[in-house]
Amino acid sequence: MKILVTGGLGFIGSHTVVELLEDGYEVVVIDDLSNSSLEIIDCIQKITGKDFSFYQEDVCDLNALEKIFSEHKIDAVMHFAGYKAVGESVREPIMYYENNLVSTLHLCKKMLEHDCFNFIFSSSATVYGDPEKLPITEDCKVGGTTNPYGTTKYMIERILNDIHIANPKFTVMVLRYFNPIGAHESGLIGEKPNGIPNNLMPYIVRVASGELEILSIFGNDYDTPDGTGVRDYIHVVDLAKGHLCALKKAFDSEGIFYYNLGTGTGYSVLDLVKNFEKVNGVKVPYKIVERRPGDIASCYADPSKAYRELGWKAHFGLDEMMRDSYHYILKQHEDV
Ligand code: UFG
Repeated sequence: MKILVTGGLGFIGSHTVVELLEDGYEVVVIDDLSNSSLEIIDCIQKITGKDFSFYQEDVCDLNALEKIFSEHKIDAVMHFAGYKAVGESVREPIMYYENNLVSTLHLCKKMLEHDCFNFIFSSSATVYGDPEKLPITEDCKVGGTTNPYGTTKYMIERILNDIHIANPKFTVMVLRYFNPIGAHESGLIGEKPNGIPNNLMPYIVRVASGELEILSIFGNDYDTPDGTGVRDYIHVVDLAKGHLCALKKAFDSEGIFYYNLGTGTGYSVLDLVKNFEKVNGVKVPYKIVERRPGDIASCYADPSKAYRELGWKAHFGLDEMMRDSYHYILKQHEDV
């Protein structure tokens, strides 16, 4: 079985490529390196001892896609490539809509032309907006997105549904991620955001490693147990394994399916800070500042549908997530 992985050198994509190779799949990666680097290829090879095909191309480029689909008989596509920074999407909406929508449309077009009918899509819990209930089930209302990035995910979900209706064999797995953190236990691949991180975990590790001075906690007056925001953090390796379970289901089903990939447990910002300090034996200085516009109080999954239908559930706990996130950043420093 040959799987095309878009954005396969990125944070979640690279961990999924490792799982695919270790499970015996052939892998073709397309990545334009806009938020990744060529070294990741060596790291993946080092971890798995296996090779894969790589195309440094933009998924929006129809000619590049045509070349890939002509050179390989692709059985399924996992679509990770996309812009994902919430703040940037507010400043550059056209860039976000153009890139995220056009890449998906072009990919689906080429898949249909080449009789490839299995599509695994990286969606996000952001499609639920401010959730109507907690924990969030897949049938909760979607669409209340608060920024262009989130709206691209919501729009793509709608587009995929229409493509499936028009082409019933076109099977879609919509995977709604909660908050992926952690890194591969080897420390060779992980999350490396450009510039100052927007997300909590990359920020914490940089404060702990001395690269940044102090963590700003965005508000401690939310309606949560300690007043700070609650999220469902999931280890990226668990998330990657979820994709393989979804892939297996795609191969023996027809339809469009939606799954929450989370652990089902919510932790606050302060829970993360305290747990990180305990597990890694380092201090994370912090200060409480104003709420960040657009943030919600709490967001965590009911992941039971993924367990019932895919046989998947998360195995790693917060300790492992804290350990592996820090191990990765320390290893990056060693290698410099
Ligand atoms: N936070 C801080 N300080 C920081 C960064 C974050 O206190 O420096 C807090 C936030 O206020 C929030 C929590 O930490 O309570 C998590 O924030 P992240 O930015 O790490 O994650 P979000 O839940 O805001 O965003 C994530 C993904 C988005 C996605 C969104 C909704 O990064 O892509 O979930 O699903 F849109």
